[in-house]
Amino acid sequence: MSNPIIEKIDAALIDAEQRLSAAASEAEIEQVRVDIFGRKGLFPALSKEMKNVAPEQRKDTGMAFNVAKPKFQKLLDDANDRLNAGSAEVSGEEIDLTLPGRRWKVGRKHPVTKVIDDCVAVFRRMGFIVASGPELETVYNNFDALNTPKNHPSRDPGDTFYFADGRLLRTQTSPVQIRVMESQEPPVRIVAPGRCFRRDTPDATHSMNFHQIEGLYIDENVSLSDLKSVLRSFAHEMFGASVEVRLRPHFFPFTEPSVEYDFSCIMCEGKGCPVCKNSGWLEIAGAGMVDPNVLKNVGYDPEKWSGFAFGMGVERLAMLRYRISDIRWLYENDVRFLEQF
Ligand code: PHE
Repeated sequence: MSNPIIEKIDAALIDAEQRLSAAASEAEIEQVRVDIFGRKGLFPALSKEMKNVAPEQRKDTGMAFNVAKPKFQKLLDDANDRLNAGSAEVSGEEIDLTLPGRRWKVGRKHPVTKVIDDCVAVFRRMGFIVASGPELETVYNNFDALNTPKNHPSRDPGDTFYFADGRLLRTQTSPVQIRVMESQEPPVRIVAPGRCFRRDTPDATHSMNFHQIEGLYIDENVSLSDLKSVLRSFAHEMFGASVEVRLRPHFFPFTEPSVEYDFSCIMCEGKGCPVCKNSGWLEIAGAGMVDPNVLKNVGYDPEKWSGFAFGMGVERLAMLRYRISDIRWLYENDVRFLEQF
């Protein structure tokens, strides 16, 4: 025997399930609730119909009534849960918007590059332009044209890296002097930063590859005092106006006279400390007046032109500036070290 109330309940369950699974807002779910439990909804209407139910069907109908109520409620609850779970992701319940964002890792310049850039900037302001040459050089440019005697110890294969074809890894940036002078007429005013190579055993102050900055100034009537004033200006710009410069006699094959130049110690201001080994002075580099033989080798007239050259170690400057105690730190690519500069 058919029971119109049970049929209505079953139909309403199917309808509610469809509407709720499609519901995309709280308002839509609420409307389903009102249609079922509301004052003018399904259940109050069915209650009124109960009195028309035949007595022998009352029990089954009442049971269907009681079982249906929690079924509707579960459909409503599930729909609400589904909606809330979806919105939690955007409302911030699971994403904590107060957490700090992810930091972009921005690269930075290597300390050696920074020092080169700063040195170049200082010399540029004094009118020097940047020149460069290859790391793989000819024996002629690295030694012969630079007036280096055939028996000079630096030519020894124990000191210099040679290739089978006779070329070598340049041991200094001085061959750039030769390349520039061969390619242009005087006056010349260049700085040449670059990598050099020597067969040294690595320790705290030696590395098989390192960097130099070469300077070359050729013009008429250039004297040692011009060299000294350029180096002093450089010292002041790099390390401060109180730094003094001193020249000491030395020997290089390509300069005559040759000097080594020192800066007064930037750590102790010349008083004496472990960094300057209590001397008050820091050895910075070599320099001198360009030897007339070198000028002849490149076709310049030594009677007309003269000039000075200097070469300094970039790592040494970087270690002084950043208080780095071991040159090897500069080549180990340890980000924890490099991040500090
Ligand atoms: N090339 C020399 C060196 O490596 C330095 C230097 C450069 C000296 C220019 C004099 C002039 O030791």
